[in-house]
Order: sequence, then structure tokens, then C-alpha cells
Amino acid sequence: MTAPRTAPVPRTTTAPRRVAVLVGSLRGGSYSRRIAHALAALAPPSLDLEIVEIGDLPFYDEDLDGAHPPEPWTRLRRQVREADAVLFVTPEYNRSLPAVLKNALDVASRPYGHSAWAGKPGAVVSTSVGALGGFGANHHLRQSLVFLDVYTMQQPEAYIGNTAKLFDPQDQGALPSDERAAGQLRGFIDAFAAWVERLVTAPAPAAEAAR
Ligand SMILES: Cc1cc2nc3c(=O)[nH]c(=O)nc-3n(C[C@H](O)[C@H](O)[C@H](O)COP(=O)(O)O)c2cc1C
Repeated sequence: MTAPRTAPVPRTTTAPRRVAVLVGSLRGGSYSRRIAHALAALAPPSLDLEIVEIGDLPFYDEDLDGAHPPEPWTRLRRQVREADAVLFVTPEYNRSLPAVLKNALDVASRPYGHSAWAGKPGAVVSTSVGALGGFGANHHLRQSLVFLDVYTMQQPEAYIGNTAKLFDPQDQGALPSDERAAGQLRGFIDAFAAWVERLVTAPAPAAEAAR
């Protein structure tokens, strides 16, 4: 059974939409993290991207999920709940998503009936040092997001390949030195801004409103 959907909060200010960014790699030199920073730098003023850390989350264990769950779980759940939207930037591990990211999905999906994900607009960027751009990770992640009731942007898709070649090793700036990649990321984050705005201002579906 799918968790109940949380209604989007009506916009009362012109403050930017808060986007919780989850990065599926923990290593210091992660290209995925660099791409997340590039997306934050390229984002229009209507979006405010902030990386939510997931490396300190204990593995999900129902036995720990009682009155006093681990603090990092509580923190993640709060950060996701407070965000207007969620963005995933992840490498592919063995043709799927990294365990650390799946763990974060599981942690914030509980307690049962109180998923922090439900009803959020979302998007997926997959990355790889190879040419295929993490297609397997992208689509395995999308499969879970269907169940979690995250409204995942369909187009444009973002499979970012050859990540080791996108950044100038001498330049620690946020943007890829590869202009084509920078343009692709700009188009993606602009489309996501429009997607978020559409979703958070959408009227509740008639069937739900009638309940
Ligand atoms: C355990 C593991 C599995 C991997 N599996 C894949 C894979 O299935 N497909 C792929 O394109 N790259 C794979 N890679 C290579 C990653 O694309 C590469 O390590 C990449 O730089 C990881 O992303 P990051 O730079 O954000 O850490 C794998 C790497 C690791 C460590």
C-alpha cells in the first residue's frame, strides 16, 4: 500500500523553493557531488538547492525505529519533510543505485504511513565515468520513487557520462569546463524549476479533493 500523500503547501511568499539534494556517492572527490554543486550554481533564483548528507545514516533497522530512532534518521526525515522538492544525483554501482542512497530512501519512508517523500516533486541525475551515464541506477531509483509517490520529472532525462572529463583538474570552480555538459545541466535545472512550480501549485486531483 502506498503511504498517504501530503498536500503541497500553498505559496505565501516569493522565497525560493527549497530543494533537498541527495548525492549517492560518499567519496571526497565525487563527480556526482561536483555535478550537484554545478546544478546549485546554475539554478534559477526560484530554486535553492542544499545537499542533505546521508553518509552518517545507520542502516535501516525496524528494531531501532521506535520512540527514540537514531538522530541522523530524525534529521534526514525532517530535512526531506521541510523541502519543497527533492533532487537525486547519483553514480551507478553495479548497474543499480548505491546502497547508501537506497538506505536514505528507506529511512525517510518510515515510520509506516508517515513517509517524508510522499507528494514531493523530484528529479534524477545519474552519473558515470563510463559512456552510458548510469542508466541502470537512474531507472532503478525511479522504480522506488514511483512507490514512494515522488512526482519524478520525466523529461529531460539526465544521464551524465564520462564525468572524469567534464571538469578541468586545475579549476576547482563549480561549473564543468565542458560547455556542452554545462548547457545540459542548465537546461535540466531550468526544466526542474518549471516542474516544481507546476507541482507545488497544482490543485489537488478531484478524486482526492472529494474524499
Ligand atoms: C562499487 C562500484 C560499482 C560501480 N559500478 C558501475 C556501474 O555499474 N556502471 C558504471 O558506469 N560505473 C560503475 N562504477 C564506476 C563509477 O561510475 C565511478 O566510480 C564514479 O566516479 C562514481 O561516482 P562518483 O565520482 O560520484 O563517486 C562503479 C564504481 C564502484 C565503486
